[in-house]
Amino acid sequence: MSPDWFWFWLVLLKWVTAQMQQPLSPDYACSTDRIVHPEIGGLQILDLLATNMQNHTFPALPIWGIDKTYENMNFCNVTVVYTHPGWGDSIKVWIYLPSQDWNGRFQATGGGGFVTGATTDGGHSSDTTSDASAWALTSPGNVNWPLLVDFASVAIHDMAVIGKAITESFFGMPPQHSYFHGASTGGRQGLMLAQRYPKDFDGIIAICPAINWVEFIVANLWPQFIMNQLHEYPRGCELDAITEAAISACDSLDGVTDGIISLPALCDFNPQTLVGKSFHCNGIASVFTSAAAAVADAAWSGPRSSSGGFQWFGIGRDAELGSSGIGIATTTCEEDGTCKGYPFPISLDWIKLWLVKDFNFDFSTITHNQWDALFHTSINEYDSIIGTSDSDLSEFRRAGGKTLTWHGL
Ligand SMILES: *[C@@H]1O[C@H](CO)[C@@H](O)[C@H](O)[C@H]1NC(C)=O
Ligand SMILES: *[C@@H]1O[C@H](CO)[C@@H](O)[C@H](O)[C@H]1NC(C)=O
Repeated sequence: MSPDWFWFWLVLLKWVTAQMQQPLSPDYACSTDRIVHPEIGGLQILDLLATNMQNHTFPALPIWGIDKTYENMNFCNVTVVYTHPGWGDSIKVWIYLPSQDWNGRFQATGGGGFVTGATTDGGHSSDTTSDASAWALTSPGNVNWPLLVDFASVAIHDMAVIGKAITESFFGMPPQHSYFHGASTGGRQGLMLAQRYPKDFDGIIAICPAINWVEFIVANLWPQFIMNQLHEYPRGCELDAITEAAISACDSLDGVTDGIISLPALCDFNPQTLVGKSFHCNGIASVFTSAAAAVADAAWSGPRSSSGGFQWFGIGRDAELGSSGIGIATTTCEEDGTCKGYPFPISLDWIKLWLVKDFNFDFSTITHNQWDALFHTSINEYDSIIGTSDSDLSEFRRAGGKTLTWHGL
């Protein structure tokens, strides 16, 4: 090779190498045309939009427990809209790709209540009210099966596959590690991923998972059912006083007096022993009623069939029953002292929309036999769709997956 050609090739090689190392300008990197539409079996991409986000501020969302505002975020916001052909669904996935200093990781987040996720809408609009009546039924009597299946499992898997494909298209290499993080419904989704889609994520954090969905979501209403049977709705302060009495009777049985009953099996505190004794409700002397004792007992024992058979577990005696507003025995009271039950809205929606399939169903008047039928329907129609109690995680282990999960009593 002549010296001229040698220098020509050397300069060209240096130029090409420099181009390859030159970071793409964010505007160029983040353009709708540049992102490859992923080809994924069973999915059809309907739309893909990339928006360059510079100096973006993510506000704090205190109701979601995010109390920090994140400022000066630079990323490419890719929104993918897709369908499962024939299902008639339309699902949005959001992927946020850092404009610089990508650490090579992919992180997906789960949902809560009936919200599918923070990074997918599961085919129904994500909102903080978690109102399912807008999408659960195609018409009275008819479940919207595709959207239920999307919410329960499929859309979470799609989010992983689409998200990783977009990430690879954007950065030119696939993520080195993939993580999923979720709590409650998100925790259930984490378990679902480990059980049904064991190759999607290397690491899964599944916090307070809504495991055993079909049983516990109905069982949550058992104290409300008992109140309706008794036609008595104890005040939150009375239920709180019962909880306090249980804690003072059993707290130290685990060897540590810390307000938590850590060995619940040792606690056989019977709330009926309180009936007739006095307690204070907002400074006013009151007397424990047998209705309140029965409601606490129901919450702690869990539901039983009309013939006395076990249906599901109760909650710990140290768990809040009422006044927090989200207890399973919560009531709401008027100024004149009349109270009514406040069933957990997600449980009530499950019964109304998916079990009875009737927007106007009145839970407050059901009989014990109807209760049993609802419990049976929940398990029989939905466990294979939304249940996550399969403890065989060997596929996930073989794929190298790791998961962390924790739960309260
Ligand atoms: C980024 O946004 C903040 C607040 O919106 C603003 O004060 C700041 O000047 C912006 N920085 C740049 C580099 O645009
Ligand atoms: C990303 O883009 C979608 C579609 O335009 C939009 O709905 C979403 O709010 C954007 N995300 C952010 C953080 O701006």
